[in-house]
Amino acid sequence: MSFYITTAISYVNGAPHLGHAYEAITTDVLARHHRQRGEDVFFLTGTDEHGEPIADTARAEGIEPQELADRNAARFLALMPQLEISNDFFIRTTDREHHRRVQEVLQRVHDNGYTYKGLYEGWYCPRCADFKVENEILDGNRCPIHEIELTREREENWFFRLSAFQERLELLFSERPDFVMPAVRYNEAHSFIASGLEDISLSRARMHWGVEVPWDPSHVFYVWFEALMNYTSAVGYGSDPERFADWWPAVHHLVIGKDILKFHTVFWPAMLMAAEIEVPRHVFVHGFLLAADGRKMSKSLGNVLDPFEVLERYGPDALRHYLCREVSFGQDGAVSPDGFEARYDAELANEYGNLASRTLNMLARYSDGVVPAVETDAALRAEFATLLERADELLDRAELSAALDEIWGYVRRLNRYVEETAPWAIAREEDRSEELAGVLATLAEGLRAVTVALEPYMPGRTALLLEALGAGGAAERAFAPRGSGAGTTQIAPLFPKSA
Ligand code: MSP
Repeated sequence: MSFYITTAISYVNGAPHLGHAYEAITTDVLARHHRQRGEDVFFLTGTDEHGEPIADTARAEGIEPQELADRNAARFLALMPQLEISNDFFIRTTDREHHRRVQEVLQRVHDNGYTYKGLYEGWYCPRCADFKVENEILDGNRCPIHEIELTREREENWFFRLSAFQERLELLFSERPDFVMPAVRYNEAHSFIASGLEDISLSRARMHWGVEVPWDPSHVFYVWFEALMNYTSAVGYGSDPERFADWWPAVHHLVIGKDILKFHTVFWPAMLMAAEIEVPRHVFVHGFLLAADGRKMSKSLGNVLDPFEVLERYGPDALRHYLCREVSFGQDGAVSPDGFEARYDAELANEYGNLASRTLNMLARYSDGVVPAVETDAALRAEFATLLERADELLDRAELSAALDEIWGYVRRLNRYVEETAPWAIAREEDRSEELAGVLATLAEGLRAVTVALEPYMPGRTALLLEALGAGGAAERAFAPRGSGAGTTQIAPLFPKSA
C-alpha cells in the first residue's frame, strides 16, 4: 500500500523556527508509523523560494533572491537530520525541474479554458503573498496574521476560474467528510466554499522572482499556485507517469490551520480538477504553536523560540516528545521552556527512563542479562493488543497526541506492573524462580513492545533501547506470547534528569 505524506514547504525569507520543526516532526511521526505498518511511504518536505516575501527580504539585505534562498534553504535542509526527520526527498521550488512541471500543469489548466486576463484590485499582504478580503482585515488596514499594514494593489493579472468549481468542490466535501481533518477545519473550509467562490489571480505582472507563465512570459505565476505544484512535481507528474501513478492520489498533506487552509483545501483541489488530476486523500491540519504570551510564534512578532537551543541541550527525541504530547494535535498550544523541563523530568527521565533502567538492571541481576524464554502475562498482552488497535485508529486520523496518550498509558501500566509484582521480593524466595522468570519475560517484552510503539515519536533513543533489549533491527509490533531468550546489555540512562 502506498502512503504519500507531505509537509507544507517553508518560506526561505528567514531561518527555520519551532513552528517549522513542529510540522516536520508531526509529519515524520506519521511517516514512520506507516512504515512500521509495512506500507510504502514517500515523505516529502522542502522550501518555497519564490514570491514577494523572499524578493523583499533579499532587496532589504542588498543581495539576489537566489542567494538568500540558497542560504536559508541550506538551513532548512540541515535541520531535517538534526530533528531525525526521515524525509525521502527535499524539494526546492527554484529547481529547474519543478519550473518545467509547474508550467506543464498550469498550461493544461489554461488549455482547458480555466484562465482569463482581468484587472485585480485589493488589499495585499506582502508577507502572506495574499490578497485579504474585507471581513478579515484588522483595523487600520492591517494583516490579520502579521498585523502589518496592507498595501492597495491594482494590476492586470491572469485569473483562475475558481468559481467554475463551486459545485464540484461542494460535492467533494459532501462525499468525503474526512477530506479535511480535524472536523473543525473541515467546517471552516466548507463554509468558505459555501459562502461563494470568486475567481482568483493566478499570475503577477510586476513580480519577476517566480516561474514564467508559458503563454504570457511577461508574467510570473502567483507564488501560491506554483508552490502547491511541488506536491505533484516531486513524484514525477509530467516526467515519470509510472512513478506518479504509484504515489498519486495516495496523498496525505499535513498543513497548518488558518493561514494556509484555504489554499490546500479549496484552491489546490480546484486547480487539480482543472488539470484533470485526482484530488488528495486527506488534508490534516495542525494548530499553531504559541509563545507563552498566547500569540503565534513568528519572526515578525519577535517571539521565536529557537529549536536549535533545545536540540543542543536535550536532543531531538525530547523535543519531539514534548511537542507531540504538550500540544493536542489539531489545536493551538502554548509551549515554554518550563513546560518542557517539567515533562522531560516527569515523563522521560522518571516514567520511561526509569522503567528502562529498572528492567535492564533486574534482567542483569536476576537472569544473567537474558530475557527468559517463558510465557508472558496474558492479561498484559491483551491490554497491549487493544492499545495498538486504538493507537492505529487514532493515527489513521492523524490524532497523534491522542495516540501518544494511549501509548504513554501503557508505560505507566508497566511501571504499575513492576510495583505490583515486586520482582526484588520474589527473587529472595528460591521456590518462586518460575514466577520471577515470567515477570521478567513480561516486563522485557512489554518494554520492547511499548518502545516499538514509541519509535515513530522518538526514533533515536528507542533504537538504543531496542538494541539493549536484544531486539534491534526489524521491529515486531505485537506483544509476543513468550520472552525472546535474547541477551540484554546495560546502558546509560536514556534521558538523564535535567540539572
Ligand atoms: N510557503 C508557505 C506554504 C506553501 S505550501 C505549498 C508557507 N510557508 S511558512 O514558512 O510560512 O510556513 C511553513 C509551515 O509552517 C506552514 O504550514 C505554517 O503554517 C507552519 N508554521 C509557521 N509558524 C508556525 C507556528 N508558530 N506553529 C506551527 N506551525 C507553524 O506558509
